[in-house]
Amino acid sequence: MTTFAAFTAAALAPGEMKKLVLPDERAIAIYNVDGKFYATDDLCTHGEVSLTEEGILTGCIIECSWHFGSFDVTTGEVVTTPCNKNLLTYTVSEIDGVLHVDA
Ligand code: FES
Repeated sequence: MTTFAAFTAAALAPGEMKKLVLPDERAIAIYNVDGKFYATDDLCTHGEVSLTEEGILTGCIIECSWHFGSFDVTTGEVVTTPCNKNLLTYTVSEIDGVLHVDA
């Protein structure tokens, strides 16, 4: 596991999400839920859809706009079908105002 610097915490307001593409091309979604930061895989587990581009974040729930499946971003767990596989989650830490992801 490696720690990657993402972007400043100030660049991600509560209720927002951003994509971080790692050097190996994995895409991670980073979310600000009421001032706490969480990270999951960016691709919906039901299809090849970017959740940061096609999803809607409401509280801690990310809903995929393709078939309306949803996940809890704090745990990666499926909330609504047709998704039936949880998202992988990653630890996010804030160091000197910059978000870092262990992935
Ligand atoms: Fe996301 Fe189907 S691709 S719910």
